[in-house]
Amino acid sequence: MSTDLRNAGLSHEDVRRIFDHSWSGIEPLGRDPRTGGYNRFAWTGVDLSLREWFAAEGAKRGLSVEVDRNGNQWAWWGEPQPGSVVTGSHIDSVPGGGTFDGPLGIVSAFLAVDTLRASGLVPVRSLAIVNFFEEEGARFGLACLGSRLMTGLTDADKARSLKDDSGTTLAEALTSAGMDARFVGADPAALERIGVFVELHIEQGRQLVLSNDPVGVASSIWPHGRWHFCFSGEGNHAGTTMLEDRRDPMLPFAETVGAARRIAQASGAVATFGRVRVDPNGTNAIPTQVDTWLDARAADEDSVTDVIRALESAGAEAAAHHGVGLTVRQESWTPVVDFDASLRDRLLLSLDADGTIVPVLPTAAGHDAGILASKVPTAMLFVRNPSGVSHSPHEYAEASDCVDGVLALTAVLRDLLTGPLEVVEK
Ligand code: GLV
Ligand code: MN
Ligand code: MN
Repeated sequence: MSTDLRNAGLSHEDVRRIFDHSWSGIEPLGRDPRTGGYNRFAWTGVDLSLREWFAAEGAKRGLSVEVDRNGNQWAWWGEPQPGSVVTGSHIDSVPGGGTFDGPLGIVSAFLAVDTLRASGLVPVRSLAIVNFFEEEGARFGLACLGSRLMTGLTDADKARSLKDDSGTTLAEALTSAGMDARFVGADPAALERIGVFVELHIEQGRQLVLSNDPVGVASSIWPHGRWHFCFSGEGNHAGTTMLEDRRDPMLPFAETVGAARRIAQASGAVATFGRVRVDPNGTNAIPTQVDTWLDARAADEDSVTDVIRALESAGAEAAAHHGVGLTVRQESWTPVVDFDASLRDRLLLSLDADGTIVPVLPTAAGHDAGILASKVPTAMLFVRNPSGVSHSPHEYAEASDCVDGVLALTAVLRDLLTGPLEVVEK
């Protein structure tokens, strides 16, 4: 990519220097020194430090930083008002996650503001940088919780009663963080302020490696969801219980994991049991219960539904065979997302005008942008990830590609902050 800096104000090297500085402020927070992975879970001590970092980055630029009634953070350049340009992402992580998933979009947003200001830009509308809480759903199980609550796509009472693994509810976690959980829920005023939303994110795949481009624009997100499978059997002694007397929930669980792979493969889908809780989790005890969570995705909604149906019946059959009970409950669902085509074309044009031709690519990863897309014109930029790996410490981006990402975001925001912004009815 040849990035034309004629409007940028800061050189590639300047941006690189500021990027390295901003990144070093966030990089150690929540990092496990043993694995290099990140554990940044919503409303924990680490998250509160990350939120302080966000507020400090905003304050040092003279942006007004506020927290909405759902706990999402906003840093405003200009007055908070309807029809503003909004960019940003999240700073929470999956367990043992990578450093870029989320924070890259936030750091790039702050740097895009620096670059726009350095170029002397006078915006005709306000810009906000947003940090949506609990995007990964790693603590309370529901991904994109902050944006789902704001848009009203998740019921407030249901959200307040979501529990983490230690039994703490979201309401309790919010209260301990100084928030008022009574006010959680649909926030039309906050939503109305978003005239357009653009999220920059590390690519979670290798399409940009294959096309040899540092930056791309998103076309769509695969539909996806999460299901809780609970296998309940009978706890007993691992030595003295005859095999024929056992009701061991681990057996149908294992068979269901194998079935998920076979069924997904046959349907062109993906299905993953990535989380399991075994009760009581003793080496010399047959478990009483196995709780496990399935993540399933495909290019179209029917394929995901087919996978779930087939897997529920495979699980039920395996459970019955072993004398074990099975309940399956859907915990979340995100329909297919096709990003606003006119906004996407506009991004491509503003990048083209900046000397950058970028590819358009779909993704199977979920994002707050996917939630907002049902309410406001929304777009995404992706930055190349040479490893293609994400949700792992091996997630990676070259600093120079990150700078290209900042400059691409800058070009897009410059256009959105100065050109006409048609309101597209959703
Ligand atoms: C979030 O990154 C997801 O795709 O689950
Ligand atoms: Mn993620
Ligand atoms: Mn993410």
